[in-house]
Amino acid sequence: MSPQQQTVFRLTSGGGFEGLQAFKEPVPTIGDYEVLVKIHSVAINYRDIAIANGTYPLAVNDQVVPCTDMAGQVLQVSKQVDNIVVGDAVVAAISSSALYGPMKDDKHTLGGSKDGVLREYIVLPVHQVVKLPRSLHTFTQWSAAVATGTTVWNCFYGCLPLKPGQTVLIQGTGGVALTALIFARAAGATTIITSSSDEKLAKVKVKYGVDHTINYKTHPNWAAEVHRITDGQGANHVIENGGIGTIRQSIECAAMGGTISLVGFLASIPQDQVPDVTLLALSKGALLHGILAGSKQQLEEAVQFIGSRDLPVPVDRTFAFNRDDIIAALKYVASGQHIGKVCINLN
Ligand SMILES: NC(=O)c1ccc[n+]([C@@H]2O[C@H](COP(=O)([O-])OP(=O)(O)OC[C@H]3O[C@@H](n4cnc5c(N)ncnc54)[C@H](OP(=O)(O)O)[C@@H]3O)[C@@H](O)[C@H]2O)c1
Repeated sequence: MSPQQQTVFRLTSGGGFEGLQAFKEPVPTIGDYEVLVKIHSVAINYRDIAIANGTYPLAVNDQVVPCTDMAGQVLQVSKQVDNIVVGDAVVAAISSSALYGPMKDDKHTLGGSKDGVLREYIVLPVHQVVKLPRSLHTFTQWSAAVATGTTVWNCFYGCLPLKPGQTVLIQGTGGVALTALIFARAAGATTIITSSSDEKLAKVKVKYGVDHTINYKTHPNWAAEVHRITDGQGANHVIENGGIGTIRQSIECAAMGGTISLVGFLASIPQDQVPDVTLLALSKGALLHGILAGSKQQLEEAVQFIGSRDLPVPVDRTFAFNRDDIIAALKYVASGQHIGKVCINLN
């Protein structure tokens, strides 16, 4: 018997995290080429914090159902669907219009320009759904692999591909950073990670392994440390999470001809200190690769990599599917105490 009603969380306008409210809504019925998915786990991204706080730079719907990342099980498929069956474990691409290649638009993104996944059931077009490989990973881990897996795959393989033996510089210890660390190690790269906290760096070293660590608070000129560690060569690939506040040193620490993947916007600086990015990049022959998440194909390749190599997925903490717990989860991510990903488990 199909469920009739579900709990759906929406961000009511202007309320920040406290504006998150639960609603009882009908479970939508599937149309042609669609599937109904029972959601088992949802992962939080920094984007969800920015959307709740009203600081996200791209379009967001009113009263949006937040969050892009879910893992679940297929409950129903329409009669045209023959590549997914009831019972399959699945995740969904972030946008229904970005199946391959660059993002086509920002009108079809879950948890932003379209209602997202913080609910019990979702109907999706079958072309947005990715069947998970057979593996020991849990729904929680798979949900945590969606946006960061897609994004990091885009960073490493969406332009000039990462090669074994190259050096990767990764900023921070959040979801993007640890996913990048795990993928880079598995690809045979030398890894350097930066953090504001020696304690976090020590935990990351023990749990995930990293070749070199730099505390960017005690080493404010961390680009020089990267050159010291790499014997003056610099990093071939930089995962840039800070944005305008870190871009100068990201280019300075890069190897000649290195790639800087522009992912985050976490660190700001006064307007009069904004660097001349053009001249910096030009003098290094560097490639600045703007990242807007990634495609369904990149998600498919990332989950295949995780499943086939049994890679760890960096889940830090899980919370329950009720308003108080979800708000606590959002506040925990906003506080920056986490190492890796934070998830909401439905059951
Ligand atoms: N472009 C895209 O498609 C895309 C996709 C996913 C995420 N993002 C963006 O990427 C950024 C990271 O996302 P996330 O989900 O990994 O966030 P997260 O889990 O909240 O992690 C953020 C981490 O960034 C580190 N950090 C903060 N300020 C820093 C600085 N000045 N220098 C170096 N590291 C700094 C912190 O590490 P420590 O606490 O260790 O210092 C923090 O743990 C966010 O801005 C997010 O919006 C963009």
